[in-house]
Amino acid sequence: MEYYNLIENRETIRNYDATKKIDDEVLNRILNAGRLAPSASNRQPWTFVLVSSHKKLTEVKAAYQREWFQKAPCIIVVTGDKTKSWVRPKDGYNSIETDLAIAVDHMILAAENEGLGACWIIAFDYELLAKAIGLKENEVVYSMAALGYPPDDFKKTGRKIRKPLDEVVKRI
Ligand SMILES: Cc1cc2nc3c(=O)[nH]c(=O)nc-3n(C[C@H](O)[C@H](O)[C@H](O)COP(=O)(O)O)c2cc1C
Repeated sequence: MEYYNLIENRETIRNYDATKKIDDEVLNRILNAGRLAPSASNRQPWTFVLVSSHKKLTEVKAAYQREWFQKAPCIIVVTGDKTKSWVRPKDGYNSIETDLAIAVDHMILAAENEGLGACWIIAFDYELLAKAIGLKENEVVYSMAALGYPPDDFKKTGRKIRKPLDEVVKRI
C-alpha cells in the first residue's frame, strides 16, 4: 500500500477472528519490518518474542485480561536489553524505549499492509508478562502487539481523531 494511504487507513483493531491463522511468511515479513527499524547508534537492542503456541498465548493473555485480546491468534512482545542500547554520555539517557517503540511501529504498519488488525498494548501486568516470556535480567519490555485477521464482516471506523496540524506544529 502507498505509504500515506497506509498511515491514513491504519487504525487500532481490537477484533480478531480466532480461527484465522496467520501464515509464517506473513509473520516473517512483519518481523522483518521490525528488524529493519532504525535504532540509536544502530545498536538494535531488541528481541521480538513471537507468541503463538497455545500454552504461551494463555500465559501472555493472562497479563492483559480483555475479552478481545483473548482472541488474538498471535502476539509479538518486543523486549530490549538496556545494556546493549545507546546511552548519551553527557546525561546518561538510555535510548532503549525509543528504539523499541520504533520497532513496534514498523511492525504494526507492516501488519496493516498485510491486511491484519493490530493493537499496540502497554496496559499489561508487567510481572505476569515478564514471567510468561522468561524475561532476563537487563531485559525490559514496554509494549506488545496483538495481531489477527478481523472477522469478514468487520468494518473500520474510518475516523481519525487527531489534533489539527496547526495545533501540533510549532514553526520557529
Ligand atoms: C504506546 C501505545 C500504547 C497503547 N496501549 C494500548 C493498550 O494498552 N490497550 C489498548 O487497547 N490500546 C492501546 N493503544 C492503542 C491506542 O489507544 C490507539 O492507538 C489510539 O487510541 C489511537 O487510535 P488509532 O490507533 O486507531 O489511530 C496504545 C497505543 C500506543 C501508541
